[in-house]
Amino acid sequence: LIIYFLWSQCLEELKHASPQLSLLSTSPTEIRAMWMPLSSHHSRGDIMRYRIDYSSELFSVEVAGNETQVTLKNLKPSHTYQLRIAAGTQAGFGRPSEWAVHHTPNLTQVLFAPTELKVRAKMHSLHVTWQPPPNHTQITSYKLAYREVDGEEPANEENPAGDAHEIRLRKRVKHYEITGLAPDCLYEVKVWACNKQTEGYPAVWKGRTDKFTEPVRPPNSLPPLPPSNVKAQANSSTSIWLQWEKPPFSNERVVTYTIRCSPAGTRNASLISYYTSTSQEILLGALKPFTRYEIAVQSNGINMGGPFSGTVEESTLADRPSSPPTDLQLSAINSFSVLVSWRPPLEPNGIVVSYRMLYSGNLSQPDHLWTNLSHDGSVTSTEVLDLMSETRYYFKMAACTEVGVGPFSPVKDVHTPPKQYGKCKKS
Ligand SMILES: *[C@@H]1O[C@H](CO)[C@@H](O)[C@H](O)[C@H]1NC(C)=O
Ligand SMILES: *[C@@H]1O[C@H](CO)[C@@H](O)[C@H](O)[C@H]1NC(C)=O
Ligand SMILES: *[C@@H]1O[C@H](CO)[C@@H](O)[C@H](O)[C@H]1NC(C)=O
Ligand SMILES: *[C@@H]1O[C@H](CO)[C@@H](O)[C@H](O)[C@H]1NC(C)=O
Ligand SMILES: *[C@@H]1O[C@H](CO)[C@@H](O)[C@H](O)[C@H]1NC(C)=O
Ligand SMILES: *[C@@H]1O[C@H](CO)[C@@H](O)[C@H](O)[C@H]1NC(C)=O
Ligand SMILES: *[C@@H]1O[C@H](CO)[C@@H](O)[C@H](O)[C@H]1NC(C)=O
Repeated sequence: LIIYFLWSQCLEELKHASPQLSLLSTSPTEIRAMWMPLSSHHSRGDIMRYRIDYSSELFSVEVAGNETQVTLKNLKPSHTYQLRIAAGTQAGFGRPSEWAVHHTPNLTQVLFAPTELKVRAKMHSLHVTWQPPPNHTQITSYKLAYREVDGEEPANEENPAGDAHEIRLRKRVKHYEITGLAPDCLYEVKVWACNKQTEGYPAVWKGRTDKFTEPVRPPNSLPPLPPSNVKAQANSSTSIWLQWEKPPFSNERVVTYTIRCSPAGTRNASLISYYTSTSQEILLGALKPFTRYEIAVQSNGINMGGPFSGTVEESTLADRPSSPPTDLQLSAINSFSVLVSWRPPLEPNGIVVSYRMLYSGNLSQPDHLWTNLSHDGSVTSTEVLDLMSETRYYFKMAACTEVGVGPFSPVKDVHTPPKQYGKCKKS
């Protein structure tokens, strides 16, 4: 019997738990009472209705069990009220909550609560918006406070929890993002207006941040495949025409392509160039003539690039040399012949098929009057015969590729010595 008695006491205790009350006045003659619904394990049965008692003389109002607030009207301004709430199941009302005390505002000094307090809950943040109180002429700022509440603590309007975060905001500000919150937790947010003399009544919101959900990796967030069928074709000595096809299938829309181009075999990262194309072709320009390039193409989605395709190689076309043969040297072998030697140009821009040599005894003659000799591209020295003795000769040389002749070297000169005994050449 004693055990049964204790057990039934315990059940009664749970059955008659009461919700907590939050109170606020949006005008001097009103009190809005708000509460969180009881969790089912506390109510032990469906809540059919709530009863709110208030005094000085005892009044009561009842609302349906699906409601979470009621506004008491026609109250006295600047008056102290006591309120409590009791939850009712089919079996009757449970034990009411403790009395909560609330002062209705003074008619002349009231600063009403901000209106239209709205909170958009996310996993880690609450986005709070509001509108000014009905008569907001004297507002100098707003204050916003928030705290985590565990839902079971008793209402205590006079002494808010010590760990509330309070933020002061300028009077023009009508929204605030509270960040760094825990998911699926109950928070209380209050916003109130302030002027120089006083702080107004708060608008209050209570609710939960969103539940934690594993960020789902959408199937289209795989990086796009590289393009297929990359084809390179040299268009000139300094450009390569590149074309490719869209990846055969792609989860993500390809927005751009990145083209990587470098001289074949280079290990010097500063010689690698990157180009961007929105179409499936590009003309790579400013390349070096007669140079083999390695090229690869990458597809880019909106947020990520995929891997590069395999490399294709293509050489730019040959061009005429852009520099003359180097190291031109002249030495008179005798009064009538000169040995000429040289080295290939530094920038042949192709295979040197021949060298062109011009010489003259008169430096101010135009080029076409100079004697014009051609030598095979494999040769780097030659004897020039049938010269006149005791004459200063001027020489210059150019290298030729199949495309054309390059620039001539600077002029060098040689002096043939006087005729020697017994020798007789051209007069
Ligand atoms: C509660 O239920 C009543 C009747 O079903 C309905 O008229 C009322 O709008 C509901 N209130 C809320 C806050 O859901
Ligand atoms: C309201 O506040 C004002 C200024 O503090 C004061 O003069 C007035 O007496 C108060 N009124 C009431 C009804 O308390
Ligand atoms: C707003 O406040 C002013 C000055 O305090 C007052 O004269 C006016 O009656 C108030 N208006 C309303 C709608 O309460
Ligand atoms: C490059 O060559 C390709 C193929 O010969 C040709 O279709 C394209 O128009 C050329 N592009 C330019 C810019 O010369
Ligand atoms: C890489 O190339 C740049 C540009 O041509 C050049 O200045 C640099 O010396 C090169 N570095 C090496 C290690 O070859
Ligand atoms: C050198 O050539 C220039 C131009 O053809 C000519 O005027 C000049 O007489 C020539 N000098 C000699 C020494 O032949
Ligand atoms: C040299 O001869 C070639 C043909 O053999 C000709 O095309 C070229 O113009 C000549 N060069 C000069 C500078 O006269």
